[in-house]
Amino acid sequence: MADRIIVTGGAGYIGSHVCVDLLSAGKSLLIIDDFSNSSPEAVRRIQELAEGDIRLLKSDLADPAQRERIIDAARDFRAQGAIHLAGLKAVGESVTEPERYYRVNLGSALTLIDALKATGGKLIVFSSSATVYGDRNKSPVDETGLLGPTNPYGRTKYFIEEMLRDLHVSDPGWKIANLRYFNPVGAHPSGRIGEDPNGVPNNLFPYIAQVAVGRREKLRVFGDDYDTRDGTGVRDFIHVCDLARGHRAALDHLAREKAPGVVDVNLGTGLGYSVLEAVAAFKRASNRDIPYEIAPRREGDIAEIYANPSKAKALLGWTAEKSLDDMCADHWRWQRENPTGYGE
Ligand code: UD1
Repeated sequence: MADRIIVTGGAGYIGSHVCVDLLSAGKSLLIIDDFSNSSPEAVRRIQELAEGDIRLLKSDLADPAQRERIIDAARDFRAQGAIHLAGLKAVGESVTEPERYYRVNLGSALTLIDALKATGGKLIVFSSSATVYGDRNKSPVDETGLLGPTNPYGRTKYFIEEMLRDLHVSDPGWKIANLRYFNPVGAHPSGRIGEDPNGVPNNLFPYIAQVAVGRREKLRVFGDDYDTRDGTGVRDFIHVCDLARGHRAALDHLAREKAPGVVDVNLGTGLGYSVLEAVAAFKRASNRDIPYEIAPRREGDIAEIYANPSKAKALLGWTAEKSLDDMCADHWRWQRENPTGYGE
């Protein structure tokens, strides 16, 4: 069984939804988060949405000075495994500050491995990304697709996957799931937790939501001359609650199987929607105008990527259930009820 789980980055956008899902399933959690891109308020709201046993350690996994403290906390908690979501995630920033991205993302993963070694809980569900596939595959892309991330952020995801593979080679007792997320959007249907980006959002949905709520004037659509249905980029948007459930399915799979080894799994819906289709759906859900202009292509973007999600179904018994309209409705509820996110 794996009932005592560390969740690194548990106060973040995906992490907070993972925590609510795991608590509701009766797991005990130790959240490790430094709140560099998240808020303690998210932890209060996790507790409001789900009862259960939850500990919080405010700590930076990448800081060598905090390493012993983190290991002690994991030991004290008697962790049986971890869901590792902590890390830096802005693509553009990773290009200008690559060494910070490597130090923080790789260093955090290494500290977590040390902490789990100290407890004997040799199980990790890792927050990887479809970004590891880069731009070399035709969609729908499955887990045998060519790997080749195109920026330092993506390479940290790829390198951590490889580190975890090496760990398993060194000791086959380790059980690892690399979850390759497509484009997580939406929010908990309660409207209490959701995505609260620092500064100007990089990603499409938070940007659209801030335009809808009147915080930003208009969306810039990066390119309308791609070889896609309407010329704009096509992505596999997945509801963050479906994604959260996928973590639990992966955790249960690893715990249940005697020797699952290292499994790489796409978490996506298998459906591609264009940027303009996403804008139209958000407009319907919010009943607000979403002004936009066509802007030049964004460097590093690809025309189209969506998942082949069959492995997740076959191996984990998991499929995404929520539609694009659900994603927009829930994302909008969160944005409308929390126009400035979690606030100060
Ligand atoms: C991006 C990252 C990816 C990361 C993921 C995390 C890049 C190149 N890729 O994926 O590595 O794992 O976020 O969520 O940044 N768009 C606009 N206007 C905007 C914002 C986005 O038109 O203001 C378009 C983009 O050009 C793209 C689509 O919307 O076609 C989705 O963009 P985004 O939400 O940033 O996700 P990805 O680029 O797919």
